[in-house]
Amino acid sequence: MTPSAPRAYSLLDRLLIGLDHALLTSLSDAAHAERANPARGTPDLELTDAERRHAAGLMRVNHTGEVCAQALYVGQAAVARDAATRAQLESAAQEETDHLAWCADRLRELDARPSLFNPLWYAGSYALGTLAGLRGDGWNLGFVVETERQVEAHLAEHLESLPVADARSRAILAVMKADEARHGDHAQAAGARKLPFPVPQAMAAMSKVMKVVAYRV
Ligand SMILES: [Fe+2]
Ligand SMILES: [Fe+2]
Repeated sequence: MTPSAPRAYSLLDRLLIGLDHALLTSLSDAAHAERANPARGTPDLELTDAERRHAAGLMRVNHTGEVCAQALYVGQAAVARDAATRAQLESAAQEETDHLAWCADRLRELDARPSLFNPLWYAGSYALGTLAGLRGDGWNLGFVVETERQVEAHLAEHLESLPVADARSRAILAVMKADEARHGDHAQAAGARKLPFPVPQAMAAMSKVMKVVAYRV
């Protein structure tokens, strides 16, 4: 028997795979990390009620951010023209899946739930990712750079804002921040375009709304 050639997926196939992925990511708790949770071995110190609520709000924002990252990357990969760009987007998406699973673990430990609006955030980010991707790979990568820089900045804020005793959330966010910086650097090196005004500003405004909403619900 001769080995069969790898299957070439059509654009429609890739969009349907993206939809399937959306259902798994935003509607279920099925994200599976390939790397060990960075909080493993970090003591679970006691938090006051107010501290626990604040930490849960921040980790819910981070979880939703990772749902959006999944959607962006999957949307962008679905329409990327160059196979190398697509492979890069898919490999970053796997690391985002790790982040998603780690944030979900920590939310459970804090006795909190993910945002109720995750399916909506997924849909919006998927649409954005697809639109960026359709404008060409330079734009696609430029979008990655801008997203990762913004996420890195908000993770730095969260690392400051988390209760001192919440060492487990902090351990997770520190690894995520290093990963996001690397995703941005790789996309930059692969030929990202600088996004024109007002795209970065619109992205920042949208993520601000997401953060305010997801902190609460
Ligand atoms: Fe991430
Ligand atoms: Fe990332």
